[in-house]
This record gives sequence, C-alpha cells and structure tokens, in this order.
Amino acid sequence: MLKPEIEDGQASLADPSFRADVLNGFAMRPRAIPARWFYDRRGSELFEQITDLAEYYPTRIEAGILRDNGPAIADCIGAGRAVVEFGSGSSAKTPLLLRAIDPAAYVPIDISGDFLRESSAALSSAFPGLPVHPIEADFMHPIALPAGVADLPKLGFFPGSTIGNMIPASAVDLLRAMRKWLDTGAMLLIGMDRLKDEDVLVRAYDDAQGVTAAFNLNLLERINRELDGTIPVEAFRHRAIWNDMRSRIEMHLEAQRDIDFTIEGRPFAMAAGETVHTENSHKYGPRDARILLRAGGWTPIAEWTDADDRFALILAEAQAPRTAP
Ligand code: AVI
Repeated sequence: MLKPEIEDGQASLADPSFRADVLNGFAMRPRAIPARWFYDRRGSELFEQITDLAEYYPTRIEAGILRDNGPAIADCIGAGRAVVEFGSGSSAKTPLLLRAIDPAAYVPIDISGDFLRESSAALSSAFPGLPVHPIEADFMHPIALPAGVADLPKLGFFPGSTIGNMIPASAVDLLRAMRKWLDTGAMLLIGMDRLKDEDVLVRAYDDAQGVTAAFNLNLLERINRELDGTIPVEAFRHRAIWNDMRSRIEMHLEAQRDIDFTIEGRPFAMAAGETVHTENSHKYGPRDARILLRAGGWTPIAEWTDADDRFALILAEAQAPRTAP
C-alpha cells in the first residue's frame, strides 16, 4: 500500500486523487478523509507495528486460526486453485494458507509496487514451482486477472478484516466485483473481525504506547509533506470512538484549540473540539457477516474462529445467479 516518497526540495509529486480527497475532505461537513491515504511509507511501517501490539488482536488471532485449521481449510478448498489475494501488502499470512492447501498459482494484488515485488520474490523462493503473477493495482477499481490463470478455479483471499474498513454498501459492491472477477466455481476466504466488548475494541484502536495515535496523526504529517500544508500537528489528538448504531470503531483527529492552516495555499479553520474523520472499522456478528457475504453474491459454507470468537475466517462459494426466493 506504499506510495512513492517525495525527496526534500523536489517539485510536488502529490497524487491528484490524494490532493482532491484532502481538499474536499477538509471542506465538507462532517470533515472526512478516506483511510486509504494512511499508507505512505511511514504509515505502512506504523501499521506493521500496530499488528504486533498486545491490544491489536486481529492479526495475531487470524494467523492462529489459519495455523490451527490448515487441514480442515484444505479439505473444504481442495487442491489446484489459483489463490488471488486482495491487498496482499507484506503477505505475512499467505505462507500459512499456501502451505495448507495445494495451490496451482498465486496472484497477489496490491497498490504498492514496492511491497508487491518484495513479497512476490520472497514467496517465489519459499514456494519454488508455484507460478506467482503479481498485479500492481487498486482492487477498488476493475481488475483483469492474468491469462495464465484463466482456466484455473479461483480462491479469493481477503484477510485482515480489510472489508471492515468499507461502509456496508461499498463492501457489498466490492464482494460483487470479486464474484465477477473470480468467476464461476470460485471460492472466497475472508477474515472478518467480530463484534465484541466496546472496551476491547477501543483499546485495540487506542493503544497504550500511542502507535495507533501516531498512525492517525501521520496523515496530517503526510499532508504537510506532500501538499505543502501548514497544519499544526501537535494541536490534534487521536480519538477512537465506538459507534454502536453503525457497529464500527471510528478514528478521528480532534483539534485541541482553534486553528488556522493552509493546504497548497488554501485556507482552512477548525474550532477546538472539531474533528476530521479518518477511518471506519466495522465489526460483524456471525449472522451479520453471513448476510453481508450473501448480499455480495457469496454463500458461506464454513467458518473458523478462535476459542473466544474474537475473529472469524469465513469460506464462501460464488452464488449461482438467482432472482427469486
Ligand atoms: C487495515 N485495517 C483492517 C485495520 C483495521 O483494523 O481497521 C487498520 C487499522 N486502523 C487502526 N488500526 C488498524
């Protein structure tokens, strides 16, 4: 998920979509900037640190579920599929899946060419003989799979509860798009964080060491770096709030005093207590998760969780088109 960095003194190479999202995001009410912009190099490093925090259970638990249930997962999936991973990032959990099943090919998709090349090379040497076809792309836009996997049955792999970062309508759109790209006979193995005690959730997104706070605040630093901003970053504090009506943790950046700043010369003002909304992380109960998958064109057929039901890995198969009950 990394983007190219800008060297000091270079002309602005800012991504035009980043510029548009930031300028619109500060102008709209409530203020909001899409979470995808967290992941510059520093943001990606901070996210890796988050995944090691004691409070941030999802990564650790999902890896444990994969490790503990390899044979059962392999029985349900069968051999010979092309594994298509959406947002492969550092591909940390992928070897656990590839080792458990007997795949015919691996297709990692990631927006960051850097991460993709590094992790594809590492996987190729760990799994000699497995064809690896990396695709550098944003899977929120249409994807064409490589010709080399056209005739293979597919397994979509979407771990990490990244689906939770989308509002339900967008999650359903993405699931439907995956259903189309992966085609008839496809399966999908998806990680979804469970609904649980508010305290546990808030701590997972507001850790004692302040790593998640640094991750959130880095967005403002990125804006200052890449969009010639004058945001007084020290005037903001990280907030992680449970929104029960929407079943999600929201991350916000809250102004601690009245401030004025510019972004690419455009003036903005925020009053003390005003926030910019930077991320949603939806949490799904078992039935919510299954309904979401069905709405997205997938029929859940098996699921694995940890002993405390904190996180679920759900296996689904592509639904045949059906219009009547
Ligand atoms: C990437 N995504 C699934 C993470 C989550 O849990 O929503 C991002 C994150 N934000 C704060 N901590 C982790």
